[in-house]
Amino acid sequence: MSARATQLKGKILKKGNLPAHVAIIMDGNGRWAKKRGLPRTAGHKAGVKTVKRIVKAAGDLGISVLTLFTFSQENWKRPKSEVSAIMKLLYETTKRELNELDKNNVRLITTGRIEKFSPRRRQILEEAMERTKDNTGLILNLALNYGGRTEILDAVKRIARDVKTGKLSLDQLTEEKFSGYLYTKDLPDPDLLIRTSGEMRISNFLLWQTSYTELYVTDVLWPSFSAVDFYEAIWDYQNRERRFGRV
Ligand code: FPP
Repeated sequence: MSARATQLKGKILKKGNLPAHVAIIMDGNGRWAKKRGLPRTAGHKAGVKTVKRIVKAAGDLGISVLTLFTFSQENWKRPKSEVSAIMKLLYETTKRELNELDKNNVRLITTGRIEKFSPRRRQILEEAMERTKDNTGLILNLALNYGGRTEILDAVKRIARDVKTGKLSLDQLTEEKFSGYLYTKDLPDPDLLIRTSGEMRISNFLLWQTSYTELYVTDVLWPSFSAVDFYEAIWDYQNRERRFGRV
């Protein structure tokens, strides 16, 4: 670790109010590649290295949950060759890194409609989840085929069904109960949402869950996002005042 990283990490741990759940919109792989005259897929490949770096940094700090926006519902609209390159990277990385994740006590979970993926490939994810399910360190949550509005709609449909069958009465439906119908039902809401590569958008990510989340946008492109950049985002978060609508 660089001297700057060690110093920042020390300051963060001393300060103490770590975000329990950090979510990241990993943006800028394409731009990173274009700048270097490389194909977009080279950007995604470099992006995987950043994933490894940040998973390690988050685990080292003692963060409980790291959610990565890995593949959105909208990403299917990209050229077919790019979609399959991203999928291939996802499965190959999961297979290759599984031992390492397990050894580091990381638990892998996913958020989104992964039933849309082919059974053979889904199996790789399911095996990784099964193998790491008892790990007690960092929860690495990959948002896959995820869309925030679809998640809310799916929740509403299940609620309607439960009301119809008498399992739930509408008068009892609270925000907390509603959260229990979301894909993320077992996770705390994100405390901090980081977006790389400068865009000031939520892009249909965790719409319900980010109501009171602190936002941090950096111009750094995802493949260049370092542990120091990550620590800087955490440090920035730790020095904010969260009021949740109060004075
Ligand atoms: C955003 O950059 C990146 C993605 C949509 C894909 C992210 C996927 C990976 C890094 C591979 C998945 C691997 C694991 C193991 C989680 P962009 O293509 O939108 O960049 P641009 O905005 O510059 O075009």
